[in-house]
Amino acid sequence: MAEKIGVLISEDKVAEKIREMADTINKDYAGKSVHIIGVLKGSIFFMCELAKKIEVPVTMDFMSVTSYGNDTKSSGVVRLIKDLDESIEGRDVILVEDIMDSGRTLSYLVKILKERKPASFRIITLLDKPDRRVVDLEPDMTGFVIPDRFVVGCGLDCAQKYRNLPYIGVIEE
Ligand code: IMP
Ligand code: MG
Repeated sequence: MAEKIGVLISEDKVAEKIREMADTINKDYAGKSVHIIGVLKGSIFFMCELAKKIEVPVTMDFMSVTSYGNDTKSSGVVRLIKDLDESIEGRDVILVEDIMDSGRTLSYLVKILKERKPASFRIITLLDKPDRRVVDLEPDMTGFVIPDRFVVGCGLDCAQKYRNLPYIGVIEE
């Protein structure tokens, strides 16, 4: 049976927010370059749209971790599947995530990346579900704070489906 997806945040609102976030980056990093690191696979849609609007020089790298199975519950275990291709020592790094939920994924990544001595380090996330946080960590920049609902689209999946939806949606019961 086909699931019905309701729109939580429209495509236009997402695009506008990404432009605002890029403007902030352009101001904060004026005269520098940024090395953006995407967490596969969820962050790539957000990361590409953001990168297109960044006007300082941009380089990109990717990591892959897993913390969820093919369902909507976190196992609580974060495992590194793909490490970065390049060193981040001395670079101005922005870690890009689709969503911060419990915060376990980001706190694991922050721990291993900060040990690699970047010149600066920030976390940017399109969505934040602060109600579900289990670690003491906040993103430096957030697109939208959302309630505790399972969302899809703009890179976010449900059992690997719906990443390509251009809006943030919720699966309706
Ligand atoms: P955390 O480690 O609990 O913060 O979870 C982060 C990861 O869980 C995200 O990068 C997503 O891949 C996934 N996730 C958390 N909430 C959602 C959701 O509402 N929809 C889809 N994926 C989610
Ligand atoms: Mg993710």
